[in-house]
Amino acid sequence: MASQLKSLFWMLLIFLLLSNLQQHCNAVGNPQVPCLYVFGDSLSDDGNNNNRLTLAKANYLPYGVDFPKGPTGRFSNGRNMLDVLAQNLGFDEYIPPFATARGEEILRGVNYASGSAGIRNETGRIYGDIISMDMQLKNYQITLSQINKTLGNRNMSTAEYLSKCIFSVAIGTNDYIANYLFPQFYTTSRIYTPQQYAVVLNQQLSQQLETLYKSGARKFALFGLTALGNIPFERSACGSGSSGSACVDNINNATQLFNVGLKSLVAQLNTNLTNATFIFINASGIESSPPIASKVANVSCCETLLNLICVPSGKICRNRTNYKYWDGVHPTDAVYAVYGERAYQAQSPSDVYPFDVNQLTQV
Ligand SMILES: *[C@@H]1O[C@H](CO)[C@@H](O)[C@H](O)[C@H]1NC(C)=O
Ligand SMILES: *[C@@H]1O[C@H](CO)[C@@H](O)[C@H](O)[C@H]1NC(C)=O
Ligand SMILES: *[C@@H]1O[C@H](CO)[C@@H](O)[C@H](O)[C@H]1NC(C)=O
Ligand SMILES: *[C@@H]1O[C@H](CO)[C@@H](O)[C@H](O)[C@H]1NC(C)=O
Ligand SMILES: *[C@@H]1O[C@H](CO)[C@@H](O)[C@H](O)[C@H]1NC(C)=O
Ligand SMILES: *[C@@H]1O[C@H](CO)[C@@H](O)[C@H](O)[C@H]1NC(C)=O
Ligand SMILES: *[C@@H]1O[C@H](CO)[C@@H](O)[C@H](O)[C@H]1NC(C)=O
Ligand SMILES: *[C@@H]1O[C@H](CO)[C@@H](O)[C@H](O)[C@H]1NC(C)=O
Ligand SMILES: *[C@@H]1O[C@H](CO)[C@@H](O)[C@H](O)[C@H]1NC(C)=O
Repeated sequence: MASQLKSLFWMLLIFLLLSNLQQHCNAVGNPQVPCLYVFGDSLSDDGNNNNRLTLAKANYLPYGVDFPKGPTGRFSNGRNMLDVLAQNLGFDEYIPPFATARGEEILRGVNYASGSAGIRNETGRIYGDIISMDMQLKNYQITLSQINKTLGNRNMSTAEYLSKCIFSVAIGTNDYIANYLFPQFYTTSRIYTPQQYAVVLNQQLSQQLETLYKSGARKFALFGLTALGNIPFERSACGSGSSGSACVDNINNATQLFNVGLKSLVAQLNTNLTNATFIFINASGIESSPPIASKVANVSCCETLLNLICVPSGKICRNRTNYKYWDGVHPTDAVYAVYGERAYQAQSPSDVYPFDVNQLTQV
């Protein structure tokens, strides 16, 4: 009898150990942070523009041709940059767009990003009714009052919860390509030199980040701009020959000024805002090294309209992983993947400043 009890005891113990192990295995799929809130433009948008009156849409084929759910509004053949970052953080589902996010899922994160949107309110409006950064911040306030209610029921402080979340901000591209570099529609290039414009953008972004900080955000990942002179849209606008390549260089130099300012902003905000941590992702540095630098970059993968967006149901290249640009502006899934992975885990000291998203989860 005693020995039977003894073996029963051992069996129970082994069972408990195994089920504990099982829980740990499941925990591998659990995200490193409870929540990810996403602000930005088409590099991050996962469907917010779908039901708006705008040309900045991607909810039709061939967009999404390599995405399990097909076209969703992502400006990619597959995933976008934030999808990849979310995966690397261990989220087993993508962060829902603000347009459709409901109920408890908002606690895991919401994606406010909108194709064509910019730091400046007028940016991208030539393409229709898009959601500027200021409007994204207003939408975040709506989520916040919902979070307050949900957490209030659980008796947990919103401030404590939000302090664990990552806030990703990837914006500024359209303040160049759908504003400053579009003198036919916008006056900014007549008002500001490239240096002044970079400062104005950095300052406005700084205020927007402070707004987020005041409403509870503490961990920020800020993405720098890629070399926008190189996108097929600007390359074709610049024309060919030596004046064309000087035009491309000029654009790249202008966006580099924004990046240098953004990195310095990160250093300042880390000093000025108590308990907050900001990091800078050097997207243009990541872009200029392999594997991105060795992909086909002089043509888009899809057949484009105005060198901008894919022609609905148009032709596409066969091997998407070989191409840098999916349409006239946006990277392919394979390239977004490199940005997302190296933002999460830097592969070179110049990829991030002062450290990567993986380390950001641990502060
Ligand atoms: C941005 O511009 C739109 C349209 O021009 C206007 O309705 C809106 O109030 C502006 N938003 C902000 C935050 O300035
Ligand atoms: C959420 O609750 C906090 C206090 O718990 C309050 O300071 C804040 O204004 C509330 N925010 C919203 C948007 O309701
Ligand atoms: C919520 O927390 C407060 C302070 O910790 C406590 O006084 C109150 O009883 C709690 N309410 C519920 C419903 O648990
Ligand atoms: C761009 O910047 C590089 C490095 O600072 C400089 O050598 C080049 O002359 C600049 N090009 C233009 C067109 O301003
Ligand atoms: C940070 O604080 C310094 C000193 O008060 C100030 O000069 C600077 O403008 C602040 N920077 C930002 C981005 O808030
Ligand atoms: C900073 O964090 C400490 C410790 O959590 C907290 O007591 C303090 O109120 C925080 N300060 C601000 C400005 O968030
Ligand atoms: C980004 O990385 C490149 C090297 O790949 C470096 O030359 C550049 O200075 C970095 N940019 C910033 C703003 O730190
Ligand atoms: C793109 O570059 C490849 C080789 O680098 C060249 O063969 C091809 O003609 C170029 N295509 C265009 C449209 O410039
Ligand atoms: C597509 O390109 C990648 C990278 O160059 C290569 O490894 C792969 O074999 C190619 N696939 C096809 C079907 O050509």
